[in-house]
Amino acid sequence: MCGIVGYIGGQQVNDILLTGLQRLEYRGYDSAGIAIVAEGQLKVHKQKGKVSDLVATLESNGQLQGTLGIGHTRWATHGFPNDENAHPHTNVTGSFALVHNGIIENYGALRQKLKQKGYTFKSETDTEALVHLIDDVQKATSLPLEEAVRQALTQVVGTYGIAVVSVEDPDLLIAARMGSPLILGVGEGEYFIASDAAPLVEHTRQVVYLNDGELVVLRRSGFEVRTIDNVKLEKQITELEWDLEEIEKSGYEHFMLKEIMEQPESLENCMRGRLRLEENCINLGGLIEVMDDLRAAERVIICACGTSWHAALVGEYLIEKFARIPVEVEYASEFRYRNPILREGDVVLVISQSGETADTLAAVREAKQQGILTLGVVNTVGSTIARETDAGVYLHAGPEIGVASTKAFTAQVLVLTMIALKLAENRTLTDAEMAEALRAVSQIPDKVRKLLELDKELCNIAHSYRFANNFLYLGRGFNFPVALEGALKLKEISYIHAEGYPAAEMKHGPIALIDRFMPVVFIAMKDRTYDKVVSNIEEVAARQGSVIAITDEGNGELDKLCEYVIRIPHTEEFLSPLLTVVPLQLLSYHVAVMRGCNVDQPRNLAKSVTVE
Ligand code: G6P
Repeated sequence: MCGIVGYIGGQQVNDILLTGLQRLEYRGYDSAGIAIVAEGQLKVHKQKGKVSDLVATLESNGQLQGTLGIGHTRWATHGFPNDENAHPHTNVTGSFALVHNGIIENYGALRQKLKQKGYTFKSETDTEALVHLIDDVQKATSLPLEEAVRQALTQVVGTYGIAVVSVEDPDLLIAARMGSPLILGVGEGEYFIASDAAPLVEHTRQVVYLNDGELVVLRRSGFEVRTIDNVKLEKQITELEWDLEEIEKSGYEHFMLKEIMEQPESLENCMRGRLRLEENCINLGGLIEVMDDLRAAERVIICACGTSWHAALVGEYLIEKFARIPVEVEYASEFRYRNPILREGDVVLVISQSGETADTLAAVREAKQQGILTLGVVNTVGSTIARETDAGVYLHAGPEIGVASTKAFTAQVLVLTMIALKLAENRTLTDAEMAEALRAVSQIPDKVRKLLELDKELCNIAHSYRFANNFLYLGRGFNFPVALEGALKLKEISYIHAEGYPAAEMKHGPIALIDRFMPVVFIAMKDRTYDKVVSNIEEVAARQGSVIAITDEGNGELDKLCEYVIRIPHTEEFLSPLLTVVPLQLLSYHVAVMRGCNVDQPRNLAKSVTVE
């Protein structure tokens, strides 16, 4: 949610900022801007639209020269996406510029107070209140800018990742965070700051993760971190694991397609070293210290948002099946605000691709405050949720850039599968059953590889349905969450209204919608519920609904009832979400492309939702 980037060093900053913003664009893309300090001037350029529009304007106007600067790509919270509301924002005299990710919650009160003091506001943003507040503090105290920023931040309620540069000090970049992620990249005589690692990878692998309530002052000669309360801190430099190749499209037209196609490898990476076929066990290093507590848990509460919430639902089925521990799945945003009843013996497990989702992070903090063990299933190494949970398991799926989550979902389900099987060790599964389960898990990447060959077929199906206005997705058991995920994928990238439902629930409402204009996607794998699902397919076919079914290889029984039948490799029932979701990802992708939608940057969405 909004991406910010900053640089101080010896290189020309224009390209560093613009490339950085392009890498951060999945966080927000309604407007963008940069501010550069050079030759006694602060030059700001910002405008509505994508980063590419900003790049085009700057190319035709001539690049901004300078070796110190900040940039921003916006996901609007307060105020329309227009030129005025775009960041950076400057103070009245234009001496300093600021970019901000987050929400200044008390901006109304600050704005009123500052207006009374004579400040005029050019934008409708909450951010501008912070800019004028810093200015006001500086005027009143004559303190150096970094100190004025720190003191102003003590008056702010809300969330922020900010970066500030000033014409008065061309050797100064200030950054601070509270609730919005910020990483510092350390180079030779140069420093970078960014909302996440994507803009840093091509410049440095040495990073410092800033924590909430920390402010960093960067000069070409070094950096110093303090708390907002002014306590000096020593920070550890860590090594970044990302590769540049991982954050580029590598010949694919879209990140989403690349990430769908990468799933055999991301799943292999996720299970590497963890799935021990010879020893007939699962090894999850990140959970070793808490395993006894987890095994003894009375209840597991899984909190997440979006696609991660769908993975959580699969996790509920998995953990209850294998560990026989009751599981509750909560939207993180609901959990945090209803004073949840947590008891001794509860474990809160959160799932997040980014590790930065504000509501999911708040769920972690709520649980910790009540003394509950918190576990994280997170993709982004070093992210806030990864650092704040007591223990956890990384996905190792590699960076996911497409806003619609794909490879993170399958890796999340795989990690939850491994956690469930770990909990079943010497408990609910015999050695032979465990061996059978592990063998089936190990075959999943190859089966995904095989089913990706259906891409062409799915493209043809997409062609038939590209003008649909509605879609219904139905599944049962382990595949009910997949129905939800299939519907979410379609609606978020193609803007077709789609709903996911448990297949049997169809009779309690959605059946009223069925007519020949309603495509219905059934997940009808040959498992315990197959016959029931076939009855549901009959019911839809009888009402002229147009059925697309996903079923097992070799199953010809559905052909007479369905418009299209997608046959995928067979696996154990508990592993089927790892396969059944893939054709749904591809179907959504192709429909969206055919409708001319921007697949990687769907309207109004952002990949990392760091505001409530
Ligand atoms: C946003 C993204 C989704 C994602 C959700 C949760 O809505 O667009 O793709 O599933 O946030 O994000 P997280 O990073 O916590 O998994």
